[in-house]
Amino acid sequence: MNTEPDHTGQDHAGQDFEIFLVAAPGLESVLCAEAVDRGFANPTAVKGGVTVTGGWPEVWRANLELRGATRVLARIASFRAFHLAQLDKRARRVPWAQILRADVPVRVEASCKGSRIYHAGAAAQRIERAIAEELGAPIVKAAPKPTGKNAAKSAAKDAPEEDTRAVQIAVQIKARIDDDLCTISVDSSGESLHKRGHKEAVNKAPMRETLAALFLRQCGYDGREPVPVVDPMCGSGTFVIEAAEIAAGLKPGRSRSFAFEQLANFDPAVWRSLRGDGTATAPAVRFYGSDRDAGAIAMSRANAERAGVSAWTDFAHHAISDLTPPEGPPGLVIVNPPYGARIGEGKSLIPLYHAMGQTLKTRFAGWRVGIVTNEAALAKATELPFKEGGVSVSNGGIRVTLYQTDPLP
Ligand SMILES: C[S@@+](CC[C@H](N)C(=O)[O-])C[C@H]1O[C@@H](n2cnc3c(N)ncnc32)[C@H](O)[C@@H]1O
Repeated sequence: MNTEPDHTGQDHAGQDFEIFLVAAPGLESVLCAEAVDRGFANPTAVKGGVTVTGGWPEVWRANLELRGATRVLARIASFRAFHLAQLDKRARRVPWAQILRADVPVRVEASCKGSRIYHAGAAAQRIERAIAEELGAPIVKAAPKPTGKNAAKSAAKDAPEEDTRAVQIAVQIKARIDDDLCTISVDSSGESLHKRGHKEAVNKAPMRETLAALFLRQCGYDGREPVPVVDPMCGSGTFVIEAAEIAAGLKPGRSRSFAFEQLANFDPAVWRSLRGDGTATAPAVRFYGSDRDAGAIAMSRANAERAGVSAWTDFAHHAISDLTPPEGPPGLVIVNPPYGARIGEGKSLIPLYHAMGQTLKTRFAGWRVGIVTNEAALAKATELPFKEGGVSVSNGGIRVTLYQTDPLP
């Protein structure tokens, strides 16, 4: 390991280091609360994510258990680099062979901010060369990032998939040079963690699972309290399936593969014991989705089946005007109604939001409500008593806000 001051703390021979949990910007503190709940060490919310500390099994566990993290980065080295020759030399001292495999392709992505090294391409090239020459792993060139006047548009368009280019290769190294400090991380996740591996069928504008889980948690739903959850515009069923999985104690990463399985330090026996046998605990309540689109209901049922929660979920084909509360205690209504792509485009939806608000106000006394939408005017049209303070986050490139109520009178 580098002898330079190492902000990751330790080396990687079985000792603790910093693990960065990437969060949707705006929801860092919600992910931090989840990391605390799951027993990770030293969770701290920072811009863009949460830091925790641990060894490799904790990296694997974060990928397996955290519902709100978009990806998990293992910080493997941190050193000062004032010029490219120094970067070259210090990058060669990273113990690549302890982490990467010589037969697994690697892609390096670099960024520079406020540093004497300002050329990200040149920085990435030095690190690629260090890996190729010190370890012999094949290097896959990073696709060029969009530049020029369409870059911002294209970045927004790319946002939902959060760097799908990483999907084709096994392992990605991220180097960040900030204020002359170079931090090198391995992306241990691979495909973005919202891909749980169960959803084949998706409707228009599905909610990402990671966001759905964080919104559920923001609404105070963490599966401990046995309350039913209702989504009356469920689309592909994301909220309902997430809520049922949470209540059943099913780990979100139980069915998918991860980039860390391609690393030199991967231990299949430890991983098998972390994953466990995947048995679910039957929840004490049920989870309900409905939608006026018959195709959406068929998708929701198929997705619930694949996720192993169909025994506790009910999906019905009807419009929200026909919604009635299920038997049993009041719980949470969480809904992501249609919205316009841009502010102001949703005007035609005001009657729909108004009708939804009336249905909830008249039939759902005692229930809490969470509505995810992109325009304050649409939320207002429901005439529901929303609390202050929803933060705006990006869902598929559109800024959305969670509007929440206390139990309705
Ligand atoms: C933005 S999508 C919801 C996406 C969903 N959260 C998911 O993850 O797939 C909005 C849904 O509202 C449904 N919808 C629109 N108007 C409705 C109405 N009046 N009653 C019931 N569902 C309606 C649409 O069919 C669509 O599936």
